[in-house]
Amino acid sequence: MVVAPRALALLLCASGVVSAPPRQQAPRARPAANARSPQRNAHRLHKAKAQNQAARARQQARTQNKKPVGPAQQEINKARIRADDIAAATVAARNLSGFCADPPRRVFKQNAKTIQPGPRSVEVDCFARFHEADLTVQPGDAAAGARMQKQCCNDKKRHGAFSPAYIVFPRSHLEAAMFYANGSVRDVDVNFMGRLHTKQETANRARKWIFDFVRSSFTNRSIFIDTTVQDPRTYKRLGPYDISIGADGKPAGFKPMGVMAEQTKTPCVMAKCSTDYFLRLARSRFTLSPAGDKPWSQRFFEAIMAGSIPLLDNKEHSGRNYKEKMLGYKYLLVSEYVARRRRFPGAAPYCQAWAEHNLDIFLRHQTYIMRRQTIHPNLERCIAEAF
Ligand SMILES: *[C@@H]1O[C@H](CO)[C@@H](O)[C@H](O)[C@H]1NC(C)=O
Ligand SMILES: *[C@@H]1O[C@H](CO)[C@@H](O)[C@H](O)[C@H]1NC(C)=O
Ligand SMILES: *[C@@H]1O[C@H](CO)[C@@H](O)[C@H](O)[C@H]1NC(C)=O
Repeated sequence: MVVAPRALALLLCASGVVSAPPRQQAPRARPAANARSPQRNAHRLHKAKAQNQAARARQQARTQNKKPVGPAQQEINKARIRADDIAAATVAARNLSGFCADPPRRVFKQNAKTIQPGPRSVEVDCFARFHEADLTVQPGDAAAGARMQKQCCNDKKRHGAFSPAYIVFPRSHLEAAMFYANGSVRDVDVNFMGRLHTKQETANRARKWIFDFVRSSFTNRSIFIDTTVQDPRTYKRLGPYDISIGADGKPAGFKPMGVMAEQTKTPCVMAKCSTDYFLRLARSRFTLSPAGDKPWSQRFFEAIMAGSIPLLDNKEHSGRNYKEKMLGYKYLLVSEYVARRRRFPGAAPYCQAWAEHNLDIFLRHQTYIMRRQTIHPNLERCIAEAF
């Protein structure tokens, strides 16, 4: 049999002998091949891509006959890994003495608008107040569980009118996260767990870049779970790291927010503690915490509770407002993560000092816990949130 080289490559690829090259973020309009410098070509590619995106956005706005998008929407539209961000991070990475050398100082606009938290954070805050109001309540106390549910789950008025200085998390989540983090060998280099196919176009657009990043940077030590798989039978796994479908053939994850929650459940169900979720965060060195329907993510803080370092595509997604963004958490932008992994080939090491630094800030500002001695990492409260 005579096989043309390209067909051979495809054959080898399909049979798993050589791995497929990472998919490029190919723009529709390809610049003509010419003798320009690589930088100018990259610039032209980037410009063509931006023009395409702008044209598509205009077309979409026309067909949907919509008003111009608001500031939050614009920010989400801007969020994508861009070739020039990677180039800048690569230059900065040349000076790093080690993978865990501190991230660059982040600067934010002081007059940035506070983004209203989504429903899930309102309930989570209510759980936090409830836990602290009566520390003598035993986890699993059914009457107390019912009271918490009554107090926290039926007050839709609070949605949209709730704007604390910092988003606060309950003891149940923190204790579970710390329980798993204690002694974790951090065998997962990076994880993504969340919704990628939702009814909210804003959220889907904000997370589009994730597919390319996952294909190019996830390894067989990573975890990927799309919590919105609709039909497990037709689902195509992205790679060895993709455990969106469990061994039982069912979608693996529906918490904290996923297909089940979206279709049938209240924000209270999405807000309750999930042991699987915190276990996976605590196994991971890095956690993708992308913007979704809002230009910030609760996952950023959940990762911090579990000692995992957040990965963002845009520094503006590190909190809802100026105060939260200025808390001083250490995290990497996706472009910096890519550049550091190139500069220090091999698995991404665990930046433990960052995790400790982050948890300290978190305990001071994002819980209602008055005394750290009262924190006893265990799963009891987490499991007891079973309504
Ligand atoms: C790298 O370090 C050199 C010497 O300290 C400094 O002059 C240069 O500005 C640094 N470059 C970057 C991109 O940080
Ligand atoms: C961490 O785990 C060890 C061993 O199980 C235990 O002795 C220690 O108390 C735990 N630390 C915390 C803070 O829970
Ligand atoms: C994971 O990937 C590494 C590096 O590509 C390879 O050496 C190793 O055999 C792989 N492990 C498994 C279980 O596939």
